[in-house]
Amino acid sequence: MSRYARIIGTGGYLPEKILTNDEISQTVDTSDSWIFERTGIKSRHIANENESASSMAEAAARQAIDAAQIDAESIDLIIVATGTPDRVYPSTGCLLQQRLGIKNCVAFDVQAACSGSIFALNIADQYIKSGAANTVLIVGAELCSRIVDWTDRSTCVLFGDGAGALLLSAAEEGGVLSTHIHSDGEFGNLLYCPNPQVATADNKDESGYIKMQGNEVFKVAVNTLGRIVDETLEANNLDLSEIDWLVPHQANIRIIAATAKKLKMSMEQVVVTLETQGNTSSASVLLAFNAAVRDNRIQRGQIVLLEAFGAGFTWGSALIRY
Ligand code: UT7
Repeated sequence: MSRYARIIGTGGYLPEKILTNDEISQTVDTSDSWIFERTGIKSRHIANENESASSMAEAAARQAIDAAQIDAESIDLIIVATGTPDRVYPSTGCLLQQRLGIKNCVAFDVQAACSGSIFALNIADQYIKSGAANTVLIVGAELCSRIVDWTDRSTCVLFGDGAGALLLSAAEEGGVLSTHIHSDGEFGNLLYCPNPQVATADNKDESGYIKMQGNEVFKVAVNTLGRIVDETLEANNLDLSEIDWLVPHQANIRIIAATAKKLKMSMEQVVVTLETQGNTSSASVLLAFNAAVRDNRIQRGQIVLLEAFGAGFTWGSALIRY
């Protein structure tokens, strides 16, 4: 009997406060038209001072638990993907476990920057397939607004805050068909966020804000995502036409459009949340997936391709029969 990791619930949380391009253009030298034309972003959500990765993760997780109609106590494993953990330790996974009041489960974080949700999904799938876990909660939660330099127009216009969650449970059919994850540390300096408290003498003057050579990252992202589409289709012996939905990482509408073109998909089949959310890093794929499940675009039985690319570089995909 085969075991699959089937999605039984989804959830999302976006902070109340919305920051528009026009508002940003009052503080740095940019404009709504530049941001929208180059990225596809119009506005993003910004957490208030009382919010944290774990508080947003809790809100998204509770929605997923409600949707799945399960008792939180039946969750065996919690995996949180975040680049903005509340604390260095305990992990945000453990903080979430405490918030959800779950006594008997394992919890940890994964750090794969914007690809974090796909890495978490890969791990969840292995645990469920092998029988090591029956029910796994994965969450991507990010407070990007706290690690962007609000005086740097090349990065501050791109990011937003939020959390997305997926609950997966063992099933005999359907669910995750395959996952593919990759890393290449060679490109670490094109996109990174320093950690000043543990800096060495060489980088002790760096501030703790995101640094990105956007144009270089853009080129590698387009090529790499093209390759992972091929890898995923080949691994599943699938034709392009069999994919119903693309749920991409939301970094730039031009990167998303290039992947859709590669898949010969119309943009109607692509879930895009970028315009109102910006890049929420590891939360973005999960937030987009949740949005399209809740508005009934993604239907049970359909084939969905999830993909992401981020700092590291890291990249990955997941093919799911929802
Ligand atoms: O999620 C993780 C992975 N991250 C990504 O995938 C991000 C990938 N990169 C991108 O999405 C794009 O490279 C950006 C949106 C970041 C930048 O777009 P671009 O078309 O690559 O612009 P650029 O960096 O080549 O800059 C073009 C010009 C520059 O001016 P000059 O040198 O041509 O005079 C920049 O200084 O645009 C300028 N610029 C801006 N102008 C107005 C950069 N940021 C801004 C801004 N407003 N916010």
